[in-house]
Amino acid sequence: MATSYFLLTVFLALASSQAIASDPSPLQDFCVADKDSPVKVNGFVCKDPTHVTADDFFKAAKLDEPRNTKGKVGSNVTLINVMQLAGLNTLGISLARIDYAPLGENPPHTHPRATEILTVLEGTLYVGFVTSNPNNTLFAKVLNKGDVFVFPEGLIHFQFNPVHDKPAVALAALSSQNPGVITIANAVFGSKPPISDDVLAKAFQVEKGAIDWLQAQFWENNHY
Ligand SMILES: *[C@@H]1O[C@H](CO)[C@@H](O)[C@H](O)[C@H]1NC(C)=O
Ligand SMILES: *[C@@H]1O[C@H](CO)[C@@H](O)[C@H](O)[C@H]1NC(C)=O
Repeated sequence: MATSYFLLTVFLALASSQAIASDPSPLQDFCVADKDSPVKVNGFVCKDPTHVTADDFFKAAKLDEPRNTKGKVGSNVTLINVMQLAGLNTLGISLARIDYAPLGENPPHTHPRATEILTVLEGTLYVGFVTSNPNNTLFAKVLNKGDVFVFPEGLIHFQFNPVHDKPAVALAALSSQNPGVITIANAVFGSKPPISDDVLAKAFQVEKGAIDWLQAQFWENNHY
């Protein structure tokens, strides 16, 4: 009997840990990332709290300043995650400024570890996300300055500036210290080494030549 209770407990613990895909809750007030520690944990180990100062929770990120959007997709994402701000370690949150050139876009991508809430600071954005299989429903909307939209965790989403003569700016909050980003085209067509064109031709239901052409393009990263 005791054994079966033990097995049930183990099963429930495993089941619940698999269901929780976002960051775990902190077990102390803060745990400033000690990036020099040789000890590896899920996240970063804590810096000695007696050595923590206000600067560990601070970043002069100049998020009020426009970024260069001259890249191929016409957008530039400035992410403030735990790598830029050590105090974010264990806190389950991060922030991004996104600049869009006229007709620029933040191409379809997913954050494997975070929900994202985005607000438009300047301009207009056509945004959307697609639900998982089998429905693959697109939820999309045009946002104006001051509007807010949420992209649920893990789902493929995008933002596009449909205006040809005005830039746009958005601020996004994400529910992880390290949301991660997978830009779909870059991951599929720009992997190193490349995925076999036999695999992709079948997946995309096109001739191999179309895949070879896509794989020969330069898949620029727009995240900094
Ligand atoms: C994004 O902006 C930063 C700072 O302005 C710049 O260093 C970087 O090259 C820009 N990237 C693109 C793709 O424009
Ligand atoms: C998905 O599509 C099926 C079939 O059209 C429908 O019955 C179901 O309600 C849809 N699910 C959601 C979450 O929209």
